[in-house]
Amino acid sequence: MPKTFYITTPIYYVNDVPHIGHAYTTVAADVLARYRRLRGDDVFFLTGLDEHGQKVQQAAAKAGIAPQDHCDRLAPQFKKLWLKLNISNNGFIRTTDTGHKRVVQRYLQQLHDKQLIYKADYTGWYCTFDERFWTEKDVADGLCPDCKRPVDRLSEHNYFFKMGQYQDRLIDYIKSHENFIRPESRRNEVLGFLQTQKLGDLSISRPKSRLSWGIELPFDQDYVTYVWFDALVNYMSALEYLRPEPLVARFWPADVHLVGKDILTTHAVYWSTMLMALELPLPQTIFAHGWWTVNGEKMSKSRGNVVDPYAIVDEYECGVDAFRYFLLREVPFGHDGDFSIQALSRRTNSDLANGIGNLLSRTLTMIDRNCDGAIPDVSQDYIESAHQKYPLLLNAKQQLLALEKHLDGLYASFEFNDLLLNIASLATIVDIFIDQHEPWRLAKDPGKRTELNTVLYTAAECLRILSLYIYPVMPNTAKSIAEQLGLDVNWGSPLLSQEIKWGELQCGTKIRKGSALFPRIESKTQGAKTVSDSAASSQPTPVTSTASTPAPQAPTPAPSAPVQISIDEFMKVQLKTATVLTAERVPKSEKLIKLQVDLGGEQRQIVAGIGKRYEPEQLVGKRIVIVANLKPAKLMGIESQGMVLAAGDKDVGGLVTVIEEVPPGTKVK
Ligand code: MSP
Repeated sequence: MPKTFYITTPIYYVNDVPHIGHAYTTVAADVLARYRRLRGDDVFFLTGLDEHGQKVQQAAAKAGIAPQDHCDRLAPQFKKLWLKLNISNNGFIRTTDTGHKRVVQRYLQQLHDKQLIYKADYTGWYCTFDERFWTEKDVADGLCPDCKRPVDRLSEHNYFFKMGQYQDRLIDYIKSHENFIRPESRRNEVLGFLQTQKLGDLSISRPKSRLSWGIELPFDQDYVTYVWFDALVNYMSALEYLRPEPLVARFWPADVHLVGKDILTTHAVYWSTMLMALELPLPQTIFAHGWWTVNGEKMSKSRGNVVDPYAIVDEYECGVDAFRYFLLREVPFGHDGDFSIQALSRRTNSDLANGIGNLLSRTLTMIDRNCDGAIPDVSQDYIESAHQKYPLLLNAKQQLLALEKHLDGLYASFEFNDLLLNIASLATIVDIFIDQHEPWRLAKDPGKRTELNTVLYTAAECLRILSLYIYPVMPNTAKSIAEQLGLDVNWGSPLLSQEIKWGELQCGTKIRKGSALFPRIESKTQGAKTVSDSAASSQPTPVTSTASTPAPQAPTPAPSAPVQISIDEFMKVQLKTATVLTAERVPKSEKLIKLQVDLGGEQRQIVAGIGKRYEPEQLVGKRIVIVANLKPAKLMGIESQGMVLAAGDKDVGGLVTVIEEVPPGTKVK
């Protein structure tokens, strides 16, 4: 029997359209679900909508329609977004489903029968926005301690769940179950609160006279259920009615409830004590992730800065996978992060377009050109024996295979960004491996055929393995890599249920080179802040006379007669970083390569005399330095709008590049 894995997201309020916060949790849950399926687990991944409560009732009233109509209008927007973001949920729950309502009422009745629910008068400070009462000591200056909105004095009869009596049991449970609340800092927060404050009982009803949009209490028709009691039950009710065959025995307790930090208490305290009272096992882990700000500010409707995932994926053409990658790579899961278009573009360009995208493209171009478009023929025995000759081959291969052993640990500790960092550095290792063996040189020597095949086979096999690693985060990209390598992979099968084996890529497989995996995002808005900040704070880098002029339009200063120039003269030279977008040889020239470079919002054509040192495919994606204010000149009839900097004297030794990831167009001084 396969291991089961049950993962949930919060169910989202339908008071408004989905935003980046909703997308964040759902993408993270999807990545975990996809990974566990690759490992062969029997997965149930649940998401859905929280459709009752005051917020939804108010939103419907504002729209001038009935609450149910409002929910029916918004539900497709969430479903459509999940399709767009490639979310592979197995269930989608709506709390207005009859099946769900029945379970909520059954639980309420059970607790009532066990006398764990009682009726009492309650007077307190009520926050409409948070839909909860606060005590006198919580409220300062008449404001809700949570959302800082004004609270109202309310007095009403309500039903209460005897939550307080579970305080000690809950403390013991958290203490004895290390992984129950994660990350550690959040666990300590919850423990701290439980150990210092008396846990009260929980009001689980709202009088219909005040709020009618909810599930009626089974034992008093004048009341509806408090929205949080209703919502939390979704994690169990879904297992009962979303499939003809109930799934409770198979999937409960849940393995992971992913939630945002703001709703940890409701999960760790309300839900846990509700389960204790119902005599049901508690989930294995509740993980609370951080929040996204936008350009350094809290995201809110009133600020008008709510990030719409549709717009990001469509308008900025970064693609679904780049967005998914960004969300999980940018900040450690559990920490807060800041979203900006610049950060998204930088991350996509540096890690994806210049990383794995460029690696696939250059590998396939070389296979196309030198091996008739088929995976080259090379015996695995030769590869084995070549290890000594090519230490980097062994390195790339071993490191790539080694990651498989760490996957479970990285996923179990929700270290998505470490995982992606590992994957990105593996792609870099393969890139370096290619650079060091210079297949473009090997291709010129018929005696080096076996070596050439070994290098290209290794690169292609590394890419095949990389596609398995990236699949949970970037499923479309993984599929595209496999397809372009000529493979027919069944991604629905448990591809990681067995150890990854080296050498499964069959020689002779016809590759199917397609379009670039990640077209570079051209920043619509300049990353002005980061650009000037980093340029201003970095030490001036002297451009010495060892930087030669590869394009022949300017003479190389003679080393024997160093000419001294004043700082003013030097300051006239505008040096900037640029990223190579395309590179091609100038016909009939051994030396000249025509480059299209990105200067950050501006594209330039540069003809550079670097063709003896570099093959065009080596250059795409590289971050170089150019003289940006050189008068345009024509070389072999082609206009060159600047000059690249390279080290070397008569011959080009190497292009000048920038270690740090600065945006194209950044001033160099
Ligand atoms: N309906 C409740 C959850 C009930 S679960 C039984 C709810 N819904 S919500 O739509 O308001 O929020 C859902 C999730 O979105 C929460 O986990 C919350 O943390 C998350 N986010 C809302 N804004 C966010 C950011 N700015 N950044 C990251 N996540 C954020 O609460």
